[in-house]
Amino acid sequence: MNKPPKNDVFVQRTASFIDLQPTNESFEEAIICGLSGEKKSLPSKFFYDARGSRLFDEICVTPEYYPTRTEIGILAKIGSELANMIPERSQLIEFGAGNSTKVRLVLRAVQRFDSYVAIDISGEYLQKVANELASDFPEIKVTALCADYTRLFELPDADHHDGPARVGFFPGSTIGNLTSEGAITFLRNIGHLLGDGAGFIVGADLLKDEKILLAAYNDSLGVTAAFNLNILHRINRELEANFVPEYFSHTAIFNPEKERMEMHLTSLRDQTVRLAGRDFHFAKDEAIHTENSHKYTIKGFGELLEAAGHKPLKAWTDPEGLFSVHFARIGVAG
Ligand SMILES: C[S@@+](CC[C@H](N)C(=O)[O-])C[C@H]1O[C@@H](n2cnc3c(N)ncnc32)[C@H](O)[C@@H]1O
Repeated sequence: MNKPPKNDVFVQRTASFIDLQPTNESFEEAIICGLSGEKKSLPSKFFYDARGSRLFDEICVTPEYYPTRTEIGILAKIGSELANMIPERSQLIEFGAGNSTKVRLVLRAVQRFDSYVAIDISGEYLQKVANELASDFPEIKVTALCADYTRLFELPDADHHDGPARVGFFPGSTIGNLTSEGAITFLRNIGHLLGDGAGFIVGADLLKDEKILLAAYNDSLGVTAAFNLNILHRINRELEANFVPEYFSHTAIFNPEKERMEMHLTSLRDQTVRLAGRDFHFAKDEAIHTENSHKYTIKGFGELLEAAGHKPLKAWTDPEGLFSVHFARIGVAG
């Protein structure tokens, strides 16, 4: 039998994992608060347990869901332009990392990063994805940080004042899940996190024909419906509730006044659900508001960046004007 050559050593790198346990305390409180209001709602960040993260990946490959493939198309074209705006040996920090498809593209195309921090609320899935990335990019130091990016926290090497230049990355138009007030607060917070002069690459979905939007959030395979309903399964499991998910239906509508897609779970009957020792009543046709996805113009998104104190330097779109990617300089607006 042939022996393997001595120098053929296979080293599998893993990511460092830091768990700030972002949902431990807040989940029950947030769910009870959301279902107690006059208009019921649930925070969309709680869609993402391990099953929710996998369902989101499935949404991304449905024919109707144009944002993912369109943003990937834009990122694939702008690598060398981005590289010109980013110093060597920078650190890339991604907010809401998901399955890492887009960051792989950026790491390969830009070739300026020697460390990467993936931030996501979905801890189990984050750890798996970050380990795969660390193994595929052995030259890059990978840290997975399970945290809620809408709250204040510190980066792992925050006390290294002479640390690397930083670049934030926030793809997927995930920023659209925040109201404009929430987006400005988020953008200001990441200004403190990344530091003045850092780069920021962010994807924003654009306003367009309502038919394209409605189809994207009502895919014919029903994956978005399963993703929306997953939050009820999660509440049942983690809060010992007795939702019957089949008694709710997925609804996605365009709200022209607020320029956003909205997802709701609509009660199909009069029903009472027991949750964390309390009863919650749902009238027939009553809706639980589960997600907003705000849509922008390129100009409007630039103004949002400026309102948070950042300087938009460049924006790119696809030939059909469906989606946009922006590069901004942190903390140096006018
Ligand atoms: C719309 S998906 C986008 C995933 C990926 N970045 C992409 O572009 O395809 C949103 C991602 O952000 C994460 N996420 C949502 N809310 C979050 C929060 N408040 N803090 C941290 N991560 C969050 C989710 O777990 C999910 O991976």
